[in-house]
Amino acid sequence: MGKSNEEHVQERNLDREGVMKVQKCKEHWVIGMCIIAFYLLGPVTGKEICYNRLGCFSDDPPWAGIPGRLLTGLPDSPEHMNISFSLYTRETGNNSQVISAINSSTIQNSYFSSRRKTSFIIHGFGSTGKKGWVVEMCLLLLEVENMNCIAVDWKEGAKGTYVTAVNNIRVIGAEVAYFIKTLQKIFKYSPSEIHLIGHSLGAHTAGEAGRRTQGIRRITGLDPAGPFFEGTPPEVRLDPSDARFVDVIHSNAAHLPAVGLGMYNTTGHLDFYPNGGTVMPGCNDLIPQMKRSDFEALIADATVIGGCHHSRSHEFYFESILYPTGFIGYPCETYKSFESGDCFPCPQEGCPMMGHYADRFPAKLKRINQKYFLNTAADPPFTSWRQRVFIKLSGVKRTRGDINLVFHDTEGNTKEYQITSGVLSQDQIYTKYLDVEINPKLIKKVEFLWIKTPFTPLWSRLGADTVNIIHGGDGHRSTFCGHETVTYGAPQLLTPC
Ligand SMILES: *[C@@H]1O[C@H](CO)[C@@H](O)[C@H](O)[C@H]1NC(C)=O
Ligand SMILES: *[C@@H]1O[C@H](CO)[C@@H](O)[C@H](O)[C@H]1NC(C)=O
Ligand SMILES: *[C@@H]1O[C@H](CO)[C@@H](O)[C@H](O)[C@H]1NC(C)=O
Ligand SMILES: *[C@@H]1O[C@H](CO)[C@@H](O)[C@H](O)[C@H]1NC(C)=O
Repeated sequence: MGKSNEEHVQERNLDREGVMKVQKCKEHWVIGMCIIAFYLLGPVTGKEICYNRLGCFSDDPPWAGIPGRLLTGLPDSPEHMNISFSLYTRETGNNSQVISAINSSTIQNSYFSSRRKTSFIIHGFGSTGKKGWVVEMCLLLLEVENMNCIAVDWKEGAKGTYVTAVNNIRVIGAEVAYFIKTLQKIFKYSPSEIHLIGHSLGAHTAGEAGRRTQGIRRITGLDPAGPFFEGTPPEVRLDPSDARFVDVIHSNAAHLPAVGLGMYNTTGHLDFYPNGGTVMPGCNDLIPQMKRSDFEALIADATVIGGCHHSRSHEFYFESILYPTGFIGYPCETYKSFESGDCFPCPQEGCPMMGHYADRFPAKLKRINQKYFLNTAADPPFTSWRQRVFIKLSGVKRTRGDINLVFHDTEGNTKEYQITSGVLSQDQIYTKYLDVEINPKLIKKVEFLWIKTPFTPLWSRLGADTVNIIHGGDGHRSTFCGHETVTYGAPQLLTPC
């Protein structure tokens, strides 16, 4: 269609307006203050920019000039951002095809099939869709389902400051919506076949595409970006009205005193808070504890600060494709309450699975803003299965030490968990919630092990009389018995009884 002159005219008008404001400022006796006021308040005076295929974007509230969004402004042009859509299918393998809604014959001549479902994967600030996790996610999705997977790249729009990227996602969201409209037009392709998956700013981009398109089947928000989105009206951010089903994984939620890159508040139908949603085990990078304003100045370095925690959301999603049962989310009010065991086991209606299979949860649309908690392992594949164990001891009446349970899987891997430490007495049942990193289906044997203290008599013998295990996912109980006692450090085999 060619570039419209309109765009240029309006951009020039913007410049002129800006210049006029600064000139007025010069008459003011505190020029510095005035310039600051210009940057804070100047951009919020009802300007608008139009891009002919996508329509107009204004900086009226709530896009700018509301608490939490004082610095935002207008998005760059689509040409400037060079957005591209790379199609992966089982036919393309790693050699994706670049397709474009502007020249729709590129779609018709590609391996895109209107008989399959389609996923769009959208990266966040400072990232790219041409390589890395976006591409790996497409390739893995294709292993489990014959679909069209489209990696959206908006690197040119995502590489400036964080604020420019925040502004730019409105155009990226509009481009994704335009792409979907083109699919509707040329193939009568239904949005109910479409799943948008976005990380960080990409999550809100998916929200914007969903806001502009009726009936998207699903949007998955992977740690939706917090700064400039937390607490804003739904139209600005990802929210449950953007698709028929919206699921969210929070992995670096800003939760005072920690400042994070992600949103803390719920923003979907099902909101998952693995490990509480803010600090992820296995990540060594610091979560800065500082004022939000300092943090926003530093956020240009977002790949460093909190980046590991923030990225866990897409890593969890990736692993959830491979391990459907390994990420069960428990409905609970707070993480503290979940940790203390209040929300165990799953209720009658069951629990949803965090990640790819969240849409299998029958009650997924019953309410919005439902919080689910779980713990994950520190290392890939991050899976764990929450259980509650009860141990009744046999042997010496009373001693001191630690008691542990050791789980063995069918491949010879073991995981050991401490159940209690201190006084050990036959009169007491020892109980603990464990997040066992072995799928209960693959547990080959369970052993009891105890460890002495310097004051334990060397000849003491202890054993587990019975071990009860309640599985959180389905409330199922298994019971194991020990038939002997053992000296410290010697494992006692437990058998089903
Ligand atoms: C824009 O995207 C096209 C297609 O992906 C690519 O060939 C080109 O190099 C990109 N240009 C810039 C400036 O990144
Ligand atoms: C495709 O890429 C993946 C990693 O991104 C690699 O493991 C695999 O070997 C590649 N396959 C082919 C056929 O090149
Ligand atoms: C549109 O894409 C086709 C390839 O599918 C190409 O042959 C054609 O030149 C493109 N048209 C324009 C106007 O870029
Ligand atoms: C959190 O979200 C709920 C529901 O969208 C909203 O009512 C509430 O005001 C939000 N709280 C904050 C602090 O943004």
